[in-house]
Amino acid sequence: MTGKEIREKFLKFFEERGHRILPSASLIPANDPSLLWTAAGMVPFKPFFTGTAIPEFRRVTTCQKCLRTPDIESVGRTARHHTFFEMLGNFSFGDYFKEKAIPWAWEFVTEVLRLPPDKLWVTIYLDDDEAFDIWHREVGVPAERIVRMGKDTNFWEIGVGPCGPCSEIHVDLGEERGCGSPDCRVGCDCDRFLEIWNLVFIQFYRDEEGNYSPLASKGIDTGMGLERVASVLQGVPSNFDTDLFREIMDFTSSIAGVRYGADKKTDMALKVIADHCRAVTFAVADGALPSNEGRGYVIRRLLRRAVRFGRLLGLHEPFFYRVSDAVIRQMGDVYPELVTYREHVLKVIRSEEERFGETLAQGTEILNALISEARAAGSTVISGEDAFRLYDTYGFPLELTKEMAAEEGLTVDEEGFKRALEEQRERARSARVEMEYLSERDAFYKSLRDELGESIFVGYESLEARARVRAVLKEGRRVGAAAAGEEVEFVLDVTPCYAEAGGQVADHAVVRARHDLEVEVRDVFRPVEGLIVHRGQVRSGILRENDEVRVEVDARRRRDTARNHSATHLLHKALKEVLGPHVNQAGSLVAPDRLRFDFTHYTALSPEELRRVEDLVNEKILENLPVETYLTTIDEARKMGAIALFGEKYGERVRVVKMGNFSLELCGGTHVRSTAEIGLFKLVGEGSVGAGLRRVEAVTGAGALGYLRAREEQLDQVASLLKASPDEVVARVEALVRENRELEKECETLRARIARFEVQSLLEQVKDLNGAKFLAAKTSAPDMDSLRAMVDLLRERLGSAVIVLASPVGGRVNLVAAVTKDLLPRGLHAGKLIKEVAAVVGGGGGGRPDMAQAGGKDPSRLQEALERAYAVAASQLKG
Ligand code: ALA
Repeated sequence: MTGKEIREKFLKFFEERGHRILPSASLIPANDPSLLWTAAGMVPFKPFFTGTAIPEFRRVTTCQKCLRTPDIESVGRTARHHTFFEMLGNFSFGDYFKEKAIPWAWEFVTEVLRLPPDKLWVTIYLDDDEAFDIWHREVGVPAERIVRMGKDTNFWEIGVGPCGPCSEIHVDLGEERGCGSPDCRVGCDCDRFLEIWNLVFIQFYRDEEGNYSPLASKGIDTGMGLERVASVLQGVPSNFDTDLFREIMDFTSSIAGVRYGADKKTDMALKVIADHCRAVTFAVADGALPSNEGRGYVIRRLLRRAVRFGRLLGLHEPFFYRVSDAVIRQMGDVYPELVTYREHVLKVIRSEEERFGETLAQGTEILNALISEARAAGSTVISGEDAFRLYDTYGFPLELTKEMAAEEGLTVDEEGFKRALEEQRERARSARVEMEYLSERDAFYKSLRDELGESIFVGYESLEARARVRAVLKEGRRVGAAAAGEEVEFVLDVTPCYAEAGGQVADHAVVRARHDLEVEVRDVFRPVEGLIVHRGQVRSGILRENDEVRVEVDARRRRDTARNHSATHLLHKALKEVLGPHVNQAGSLVAPDRLRFDFTHYTALSPEELRRVEDLVNEKILENLPVETYLTTIDEARKMGAIALFGEKYGERVRVVKMGNFSLELCGGTHVRSTAEIGLFKLVGEGSVGAGLRRVEAVTGAGALGYLRAREEQLDQVASLLKASPDEVVARVEALVRENRELEKECETLRARIARFEVQSLLEQVKDLNGAKFLAAKTSAPDMDSLRAMVDLLRERLGSAVIVLASPVGGRVNLVAAVTKDLLPRGLHAGKLIKEVAAVVGGGGGGRPDMAQAGGKDPSRLQEALERAYAVAASQLKG
């Protein structure tokens, strides 16, 4: 039975028993901060078990994609460890319980999968007599094949939420697969007894503190690992030998030119690549991106581990994205999201792979340098700090550094590495202490809000308001009043000021009262939900609690910001239309003078794409679309197709911003009344902000005019420098570039001639050094390259010699030393020589025995350095 057939039979079996087949949920759990990944079939259904959400169907069956990360290092070494796997499951939300779940499971296993009943074993939770009776009396499993086990194996929970005792079905694969120990039985770690299905009897709720309380209604959650079952039915020794993996591994073998089964090392690499590739492919298709923390870090780690194993197979060019394509080919019909996001997935993987390739190359170079340094210093150990730096900056795991060092006969100071790692952890801990301080600050604002009630924001309708001062604060304390000159924070009962949120910057405003009070507001923020705090400086008078004040928002700044905010919505939609549906907002800044927008996309935008985006936005501005905003429920908004930002929390009531029929987004920001107010939209920059993430910057309204005017002025300036009209500028610059190129060539020829003259005169300074020719001299070479060229010329002319040339360049000194090959056996060493010479001019450097270069900081001691060269060379000859 193929993996695909098992999947289909399972779902159909439960469909026939009143279950609704649902598609797999995303690998990224929605609204569950207690989990990084969807790691079991029940994860998407937690609220249905606890009753916080009402399910549309009370019986459900799924094949859920799952990701688990604790065992990454075991993947490839064992028959069963995976990061990504598929879990088949049937679920009851307050509908049936054990009395149905157990007999159905038995029926499916013995009649559909046709596993021999006498090879099946069952485990139950210690005191679960109810389960025992069903297994024994109703199903007919002999009592001696029902094993009672403890909480660590037979109680199931994941993070915060529903959980309960469970009962598992195991298959006995035969004595020959066992460990041979007399104690080998169900639960043994060896390969003989394989757990294939876990039936969880959901009964409790586990809270953040780890307390259990009974749930109002009971439920069923089951999980059968597809890869395992396939391995049993296909009679193969490991999950990797099933059809679910073989196609992928065969593909990797074919591009690497290796054969699966030929040797252990190759097999392990093929398995690691196949497993990790499934995980990365599915995770990226579900919206995860490689990064240095959280989910992104998992992706990065998996990809790097796989790529390193690829190197072992001789795969040095990017290959992982091609394996990913094989995964998509194999699984795309069951998981259509793979096909929809194929292009995105492949590009994200490829660019991350290329980046890692560079890092790997850089790290290797550094490691090689460290190895030669250690050798030169007569040491056989790479220091712990260096190994740590490689790990921290270049992603080199300690094992890799050790392996590469060992190839050169060196070891790594592992203790030192651990110390450096511990020091870094220590730094991270102190950063957390800072966080705790922050939450103290949160607590302060929270109690303030509880006391004062929520601030009322009237800034959508009005830019002015009358308000009462409710609290005056300074440095986290309630001070009651503040006098002229003081920096202060204060809370009003009502405010027209927009607090920074959703990327839109805060308003500026002026607060006045009586004849003399004037406070300039420079920042407005919402430290906790419901509380708006103004921050600014008292210009004159005294600000007191209970004062009646007038608040006036800086209207021009607000309008400019609104233009940019509305333009951001048009831009978001235009990017989706021009580049594709994978484009999603990843961050934004909306300021009065510009806007910045980060989004998911894998390559730089071409000039053509940029132009199309810019054109589309401007077209929508010229159409003068009305901008409407209204409040609705989150469900309504989703139904209308509003763009909700990934990972953003929304309350029950949400605000929707609609621009004609073009754009619909959930947004709390302030906007123009119709798109024409934006005036003009001009993109001014595009770049990368991480793998798979791009950033564009743009200006609108007066900002766009200012931008174009500045460009025009630059052009005028260039024209006047060229003594030409703006229309002639291009032709004139082209001519200048041509001319310049010719002059450079001429210059080079002249320089070479001068060097030859100089070389000629240098030859007169050659001295004798115990029978060898020795030359140390100052030259006028303008850079390292020409200095080296001169040394080469001299070497040719002299045939056999020691040469040290120096030239002062801009307050520094360049030094090159060479020893011709014939003199090397006499003990001369250019690298060591230059090191001592450079020391005189306050510098360092080194190199090979025949050629070395260095730099120094003190040209005034150049003569002394050259004299030193003679002495050092002389002592090398003697030594
Ligand atoms: N949720 C249970 C498991 O993952 C079925 O084993």
